[in-house]
Amino acid sequence: MTSNLSSSLVSLLLLLLSLSSINIITAARPPQQPVAGNATGLIGESCKASRDTSACVTTLSQSGVVPDPKNATLLSIIQLATQASSKNLTAATVSSLLDAAMAAKDVNLTTAAKGCLEGLINAQQRTNATIDALTRGRMKDARSWLSAALSYESGCPSGLANVKQDSATNATVATLNSLAGLTSNALAMLVNYDNFGDKPGSWSPVQTERNGFWERVDGSGSKLGSAFPAGYPVGW
Ligand SMILES: *[C@@H]1O[C@H](CO)[C@@H](O)[C@H](O)[C@H]1NC(C)=O
Ligand SMILES: *[C@@H]1O[C@H](CO)[C@@H](O)[C@H](O)[C@H]1NC(C)=O
Ligand SMILES: *[C@@H]1O[C@H](CO)[C@@H](O)[C@H](O)[C@H]1NC(C)=O
Ligand SMILES: *[C@@H]1O[C@H](CO)[C@@H](O)[C@H](O)[C@H]1NC(C)=O
Ligand SMILES: *[C@@H]1O[C@H](CO)[C@@H](O)[C@H](O)[C@H]1NC(C)=O
Ligand SMILES: *[C@@H]1O[C@H](CO)[C@@H](O)[C@H](O)[C@H]1NC(C)=O
Repeated sequence: MTSNLSSSLVSLLLLLLSLSSINIITAARPPQQPVAGNATGLIGESCKASRDTSACVTTLSQSGVVPDPKNATLLSIIQLATQASSKNLTAATVSSLLDAAMAAKDVNLTTAAKGCLEGLINAQQRTNATIDALTRGRMKDARSWLSAALSYESGCPSGLANVKQDSATNATVATLNSLAGLTSNALAMLVNYDNFGDKPGSWSPVQTERNGFWERVDGSGSKLGSAFPAGYPVGW
């Protein structure tokens, strides 16, 4: 009985040992590195940080400012993603919504649209600061600025949706959600770069405040305080 028990313990131990050696072999295999200078490959690698990899690849590949393939690096792809967010950051749709709300004497929508416009200006300043920090290689600063931009961009559509759900407001909300999605992608790349450096094999989606979590870097995920809006639609 005792010897049966100890022999099964030994088999269990052997099994565990063999399993862990499999793990060691797997872990020892170097992750597939992107080819430096291959912008297409690097965009694919970087977009592993996005929760919608294929949409991310499409957006970045179609972006007008794809870096010179010869000197493309992961950092230049992050710059590209940030530029894509910056380019999409236009106040135009919110301005026309504000005009319509004022014409209709809709006080609540006017207030929300004004707040939204202010938020977008703040977001633009933070995005500009991000681009500046990236060119100086100040990754931590870039990460903070882009986080701030994203929280302004995320608060904006929810503020509008809370007061009105007609088709004009919905269209503006959809545009703003699309913008926040672009920013969320760029921020996820920045967080991965900050955590893992130039090793894209380990890149993966991270939680951003877009869905109510602050950068989940330790696997636990810490809830945001009330200073940031939470509870955005799933899908980003
Ligand atoms: C660039 O990377 C992509 C994806 O990894 C790959 O399919 C393609 O063959 C690469 N191109 C060159 C020129 O290396
Ligand atoms: C990449 O090369 C182009 C010219 O070929 C240059 O203008 C650009 O600044 C370079 N970018 C980086 C990040 O080195
Ligand atoms: C950028 O914003 C425009 C509206 O201003 C929108 O139609 C377009 O889909 C956005 N682009 C992306 C990639 O989200
Ligand atoms: C405007 O907002 C106030 C307070 O949030 C609310 O009581 C009121 O019903 C709203 N007015 C309209 C027309 O929705
Ligand atoms: C951000 O940078 C763009 C392009 O350089 C500039 O046109 C815009 O005025 C800047 N916006 C803010 C709010 O700093
Ligand atoms: C606007 O969006 C809300 C929430 O998604 C939806 O319930 C409503 O029917 C939409 N309004 C229009 C006019 O499509």
